[in-house]
Amino acid sequence: MRQFCGELRERTGLTGLVPTMGALHEGHLSLVRRARAECGIVTASIFVNPLQFGPNEDFAKYPRTFEDDCSQLAAEGVDLLFAPSPAEMYPQGAVTTISVEGIGDRLDGASRPGHFTGVATVVAKLFNVVKPGRAYFGQKDAAQLAVLRQMVRDLNIDVEVVGCPIVRDADGLALSSRNRYLSTGERVRALALPRALRRIENMIAGGTTESETLLREGTAELKDLRADYVAVVDARTLLPVARATPGTLVAVAAWVGETRLIDNFLVN
Ligand code: PAJ
Repeated sequence: MRQFCGELRERTGLTGLVPTMGALHEGHLSLVRRARAECGIVTASIFVNPLQFGPNEDFAKYPRTFEDDCSQLAAEGVDLLFAPSPAEMYPQGAVTTISVEGIGDRLDGASRPGHFTGVATVVAKLFNVVKPGRAYFGQKDAAQLAVLRQMVRDLNIDVEVVGCPIVRDADGLALSSRNRYLSTGERVRALALPRALRRIENMIAGGTTESETLLREGTAELKDLRADYVAVVDARTLLPVARATPGTLVAVAAWVGETRLIDNFLVN
């Protein structure tokens, strides 16, 4: 893959990389389309990364729809697909990881210890294999985006990280590979996440910006779910802020039955 990418890069210039774990939906495809519009060569990766799943998480049952993913990527004009096996990515004896201190332990990093070390490590490896000029990530995973931007800054990695807007279903639920886990009833209850965000957004628009009040309202909206967090934080550091201002990230995570969902918006 490295050799192949190297040869292509010499001929075609800018390479765009879209890392995914497969089970592709319109959210993933929006990143692919942006990359296709901006780059000479578009590479996608599909790798369900064991390193970013906790021992009691859904690695084994994570949806795998490889054939379908391949045809979707082909239809979008992706040039290269990198879909390594776990043994190829993590051969025996590999012991080096990248931990993004502090920021990697906030939001999802707090409830999923080690998760962002797994993400940072695999993304750094993908960067080193593909050597893209630009890499495309969704704002849907806002904490992931902040962690990866920090990693790229700290390690002088020569990749431009491009953040792309959240793609939603018509009813407002953010698209996620994990939405496949939801029963019909759970799918309806999951709408409390975007509802909580809209409620907070409306309050901010109406002039209520104290985080304490916003958090209380958001938490109330999630009362029928098991809320993991409601957070009003700086989008770059993921540290709590006292009031919402432009650049503030409002993020929620909640369990709908056995399924953990996340959503967020940026205050503008
Ligand atoms: P995955 O969950 O498959 O998501 C791949 C990319 O698609 C991520 O950048 C994610 O933010 C983006 N994405 C997912 N849902 C989206 C939506 N509704 N709208 C816009 N973008 C969306 O995130 C991962 O995989 C992994 O952690 C990975 C970065 C590949 C490292 O293993």
